[in-house]
Amino acid sequence: MSVMTAPLKLEDLEDRSFDPFMVEKLSHGSTADPYPTIHAAMAKGPVHKGAYRDLFDAVPDVQMAGLNHYVVLGYDLIQQVLLDPQTFTNREAFEHNLGRSFGHTVTVMDGEEHARFRRIFQRAFLPQVVAKWGETVVDPVVDRLMGAFIQRGEADLVADFTHHYPFQVIYRQLELEPEQAPIFHKLAIAQLLSSIGAPQGQEASRKLGDFFAGLLTLRRAQPGSDLVSHLATVEVDGERLPDDVLIAFLRQLMNAGGDTTYRGTSVLLTGLLTHPDQLAAVAADRSLIPQAIDEALRWEGPVASTWRHAARDVTLAGVDIPQGAIVNVVLASANRDPAKFPDPDRFDIFRDRSVRPLPFATGPHVCIGQHLAKVEMTRALNAVLDRLPNLRLDPDKPAPDIVGHILRVPEHIHVRFDPA
Ligand code: HEM
Repeated sequence: MSVMTAPLKLEDLEDRSFDPFMVEKLSHGSTADPYPTIHAAMAKGPVHKGAYRDLFDAVPDVQMAGLNHYVVLGYDLIQQVLLDPQTFTNREAFEHNLGRSFGHTVTVMDGEEHARFRRIFQRAFLPQVVAKWGETVVDPVVDRLMGAFIQRGEADLVADFTHHYPFQVIYRQLELEPEQAPIFHKLAIAQLLSSIGAPQGQEASRKLGDFFAGLLTLRRAQPGSDLVSHLATVEVDGERLPDDVLIAFLRQLMNAGGDTTYRGTSVLLTGLLTHPDQLAAVAADRSLIPQAIDEALRWEGPVASTWRHAARDVTLAGVDIPQGAIVNVVLASANRDPAKFPDPDRFDIFRDRSVRPLPFATGPHVCIGQHLAKVEMTRALNAVLDRLPNLRLDPDKPAPDIVGHILRVPEHIHVRFDPA
């Protein structure tokens, strides 16, 4: 068999006993509820010297330690920062963390370069494109996973369902070998561990990079209808996307495409299951699903904080931030800003929706995958409501507890339902 036709294999981590999921959990901390800390910090003022991470008892971020950090809180200031990409740039904020994990991807770019590449990637995730994935890609994945537990009458919706389906959606779209799914999942998560100095972070990035380089060669030789074939052959101003940008984007996709939606779906189910009246309302009227998703992502946005770099001296809310500082943009504080969302800690799918929450950020780097995430979450919730009748929390097991200070998720959602 020639190299060109041999199925590509992703190499597992050298140390098979290394568990990136456990290490990831440690690096995000076990903070059950960061919101009292965020509210208390905001009560003292919207801009503080120091890092968001330092407000919590967490594993230090070795790549960004020693930098000059400032925390920015509250909806209006966060919007101001994210909508001013000349002053608050990405490259120097992310080259310490995501840049090391993924390489030269859109998150690590600014200005013209960012706009040029982002336009191309974005086309593959436009609402009308990803709407088609609903039936063809998302539903089969969701059905297969749920089919494995609907007879049981009980499940852990995280372990049995949400932890897997968005990753499997991305694998299907990339037409990867299904048996390799666990290794992809493991390496997609392990990549991010560069930020805490674990050597397996770089090892995972290198192995995913080698795999994608091989995949690009294969797809260019024989393009199919999959996402990689599209990105490998698409031309920009008469030129192909450079391999380093494409490989970095695919690495990012493996992670951003799965991990955040797993978290988003888990907090959506937690919000509804802990508020049975709202769960019943959505079950009875599915037109409420979009507002239930918006409220879940406002209430417990999976990405609590992001970063920008101050490209010049700037004053925010009377505090001088020097050129070169890392600005910690606490999205969670925008989404629970009492000036915008009355009684902000309450989960209420019927709340006034005139102010748009910012779980996907805003400005030029706003999430490329937000439409896909919503398609996935809608399909997942519909399937849960259709196939798990009389769904409720398991009274004999601990209730779901959303944890983490930067990335949020419940570790378990133990439920019962009428078996199929
Ligand atoms: C509920 C699910 C999701 C949440 C909460 C989320 C959140 C975010 C946030 C907050 C950002 C902006 C970060 C910043 O500007 O500093 C972002 C960017 C991004 N997201 Fe998502 N995301 C989700 C799902 C997805 C999915 C499904 C994909 C894959 C298609 C994806 C791909 C990306 C990419 C590529 C960027 C970088 C965009 C750029 O820098 O121009 N995300 N996401």
